[in-house]
Amino acid sequence: MAVWDVARYEGRHSFVWRQAQDLVQLLSPQPGERVLDLGCGTGHLTARIAARGARVIGMDASPAMVEQARRNYPDLHFLVGDARDFHFSEPFDAVFSNAVLHWIREQELAVACIVEALRPGGRLVAELGAKGNVASIVTALQETLRERGLPLPPGGSPWYFPGLGEYVVLLERMGLEVVLAHLFDRPTPLEGGEEGLRHWLAMFAGDFLAPLPEARRDEVVQAVEERLRRRLFRDGTWVADYRRLRVVAYRR
Ligand code: BEZ
Repeated sequence: MAVWDVARYEGRHSFVWRQAQDLVQLLSPQPGERVLDLGCGTGHLTARIAARGARVIGMDASPAMVEQARRNYPDLHFLVGDARDFHFSEPFDAVFSNAVLHWIREQELAVACIVEALRPGGRLVAELGAKGNVASIVTALQETLRERGLPLPPGGSPWYFPGLGEYVVLLERMGLEVVLAHLFDRPTPLEGGEEGLRHWLAMFAGDFLAPLPEARRDEVVQAVEERLRRRLFRDGTWVADYRRLRVVAYRR
């Protein structure tokens, strides 16, 4: 699991939750519904769900994120928990998850916990990176490290970015009925001008950069920037090649 720099997340990467506010519309939380926000981060979407009258619990694997969520929204209920291994005694009407499931390579463990947490007829509403998400950034990192004989994360990448068909099959096999699956490109401008890509790498690409000798990290980041500049740097802004997968699925 990644170690999160909460200040960096709140400061320059608020697009993670801002761009997914319409996922809350898709969830359409009803007053009194019991909802789990799985991977709630610093709680901003949890609060949007609560504002619709639902009884929501935010859960995140990062104690630092949960601490910040509690500071941001002291009246809401947040707890630390692992998406691959969680159990609640009272079932949920809905599980909501934004930009979290792609961090879990053991996807079936997470989906099994989600299914178990839902009441029969309850729904999963989720968005994650789709097949091809940030592909040019992943390729640039891999090529830069390989060229220098530096180590890659196990499997070449820490992320799970499924194709639409593959993910629907997995969810159906695990006991959900998928009623909506939508894969779309969302080119995402990164904050910070010239520094935008290095901020993104510092926030999200720790699995690539942290194992390197400290003296090599900046060299790798600069080489990645040079590889990607023509493709992703436009009019003074880095634009990451995000591709999203949204699903709505009901527990049978
Ligand atoms: C994403 O939200 O798609 C994402 C963020 C960071 C790393 C990888 C993917």
